Amino acid sequence: MILSALSPLLRIPALSGLIQQALLKMDAETAHSATIAALRLGLAPEQTHADGPELRTSLCGLDLKNPVGMAAGFDKNAEVPRPLAQMGFGMVEIGTVTPRSQAGNAKPRLFRVPGAQGVINRMGFNNDGHDAAFARLNGLHFPAALGVNIGANKDSEDFVADYVIGVQKFADLADYLTVNISSPNTSGLRNLQADEALRRLLGELLAARAKARTRVPVFLKIAPDLDKAALDVIAKVVLATDLDGLIISNTTIARDSVIGLENAAEIGGLSGKPLFDLSTQKLAQMRQRVGDLPIIGVGGIHSPQSALAKFEAGANAVQLYSALVFGGLDLLDTIKRGFVAAVHAQAKTNIAQLVGSRTAQWAVGEPES
Ligand SMILES: Cc1cc2nc3c(=O)[nH]c(=O)nc-3n(C[C@H](O)[C@H](O)[C@H](O)COP(=O)(O)O)c2cc1C
Repeated sequence: MILSALSPLLRIPALSGLIQQALLKMDAETAHSATIAALRLGLAPEQTHADGPELRTSLCGLDLKNPVGMAAGFDKNAEVPRPLAQMGFGMVEIGTVTPRSQAGNAKPRLFRVPGAQGVINRMGFNNDGHDAAFARLNGLHFPAALGVNIGANKDSEDFVADYVIGVQKFADLADYLTVNISSPNTSGLRNLQADEALRRLLGELLAARAKARTRVPVFLKIAPDLDKAALDVIAKVVLATDLDGLIISNTTIARDSVIGLENAAEIGGLSGKPLFDLSTQKLAQMRQRVGDLPIIGVGGIHSPQSALAKFEAGANAVQLYSALVFGGLDLLDTIKRGFVAAVHAQAKTNIAQLVGSRTAQWAVGEPES
């Protein structure tokens, strides 16, 4: 009670700024654990006003109050989906969860790249496993769409079977599922993005979805490190199935945007601001290949402008994570206010009307202005 009474204090910018500074002084994984603990204690600032009609979004049959989601990896174990929803995210994606719990890689495995507002992680799907996440989520109701991001155990003999188990476990619980085959931190996982492997994976997991009571929307989350030929293959395979959408993108193994900076040489996936251009370009290139298939744009969103650029490149909704490490939770509200302003400035009524307005420019590189 006392702790939740403190939550309004976090809405005071100076105070939340101080907390943010304190978190940035901690080791990155310790800071993350402290943030999850604070959210569990009810210390999150709650959204006090309803989102405007400009932000209402329909995504694969889901009615979102706004199109901004918390990306996977922040709440791997489904500990805080409700506080995240109450903060104002339109969707909250928990996971990646694997069938069996696993410890992940040795620490340290999470690093800030402060010179570029980047993050490098090689967590390795540390998580409590399906049953623990299921037990936390079962019967829970909150004001956002719940995504469950499923993966494979690192020592699994059959990665595809692990995804099928994930679909069977969560199809009737989640509002949508994300099939994560793009983490760079599980050896061999990204091979599932190749033609034959992807066909088999999607065939088996969509067959499992067809047997579930609920036709839960399924998204495939891909890497930004795919060339145009690889994007062609994925688009072709996906369009031949009834997969519902794509999430573009996961973290990158490239380091071009952070060369020479502190921690840049750490092994793992790079996210945050230095991922923005690459992931937005891949999003636009995929938009050119998949017609109007729903796409969630993620990677490097750090401001209202960068969030809006994802829409212009072809996203129907967005997610973010790393920028919250540097900018704090205020960023969510700033982005949503930026969306409403952009809708009005372009004499439109809803954010959906801005989707794809600059896809061609983003597909060849960042537009001039
Ligand atoms: C520490 C950390 C852990 C992550 N874990 C996962 C994960 O378990 N599953 C997943 O699909 N993506 C994971 N991601 C990737 C994010 O969901 C997102 O795709 C990526 O970070 C790009 O977005 P951002 O630049 O806004 O962070 C993780 C990212 C970070 C920084």
